[in-house]
Amino acid sequence: MNLNFKNKNALLCGSTAGIGKASAIELASLGASITLVARNEEKLKQVLSELPTDNGQNHNYLVADFSDTVALKEILSKGITKNYHILLNNTGGPKGGPIINADLSEFENAFSQHLLCNHILVQAVVSGMKENGYGRIINIISTSVKQPIEGLGVSNTIRGAVANWSKTLAGELGPFGITVNNVLPGATATDRLDQIMVNIGKKIGKSAQEAGEFMKSIVPARRFAQPEEIAYTVAFLASDAAGYINGINLPVDGGRTKSL
Ligand SMILES: NC(=O)c1ccc[n+]([C@@H]2O[C@H](COP(=O)([O-])OP(=O)(O)OC[C@H]3O[C@@H](n4cnc5c(N)ncnc54)[C@H](OP(=O)(O)O)[C@@H]3O)[C@@H](O)[C@H]2O)c1
Repeated sequence: MNLNFKNKNALLCGSTAGIGKASAIELASLGASITLVARNEEKLKQVLSELPTDNGQNHNYLVADFSDTVALKEILSKGITKNYHILLNNTGGPKGGPIINADLSEFENAFSQHLLCNHILVQAVVSGMKENGYGRIINIISTSVKQPIEGLGVSNTIRGAVANWSKTLAGELGPFGITVNNVLPGATATDRLDQIMVNIGKKIGKSAQEAGEFMKSIVPARRFAQPEEIAYTVAFLASDAAGYINGINLPVDGGRTKSL
């Protein structure tokens, strides 16, 4: 199986922490040239300095905030200097809480950050992918695509929209050698999970650590995923070897999701 990304360029969003950062390190270690994307320039510089360059790659970064679609379009119109083979759509998750209390602005922000920005990014890279006859668009979503998660109402709503956008794109772009797939992480040990454990702890009157133990107890694997385990999945879907996999939702959740 060929998992070599030499001469492949990857645009990886939300790549200064968690799943995105692990994916950047994994793809760089397999030979890809990486463009990191996130809001915090200091963190971008730090991660840039950690990326392997064993294949003589030239990594770089873009500063962008996905809550501002107009600014993202502007940045991409100036900032895209490479033909990308791989796009990882990924950003911070929406805030939790009962859906009945959610303000309209929470839905609007989440829609902008997760769906509209994904769409802007795809439109920016698609012609290069078509030219290369090779494209791998991978969206980090959530298992809530298959089974809504209690207390994450805005997220549950937006994730469904992103999954259906993605499936539609997969059909349109497949003839050009481009695949579009979704990775659905289960509970993964990142900053995002730390915050979720605090919130669940408050709700059930327990500490964040006790909430974490409860969360692990409902996973058949009885543990959280490490971000690297999601990154391995991203690397496989981005590879030549995964060329006939298109339009899927792939849970990486230790067996937690109850549906097929
Ligand atoms: N961790 C889990 O258990 C889990 C489970 C299921 C689904 N997910 C989903 O997977 C995705 C990634 O999760 P994670 O745990 O890896 O998150 P994380 O550790 O919080 O990392 C989020 C990344 O996105 C960037 N980011 C956040 N807001 C942004 C914005 N407005 N514009 C541009 N970049 C932004 C952050 O960098 P800056 O702050 O510098 O911008 C950071 O690099 C999220 O959608 C999350 O909901 C996570």
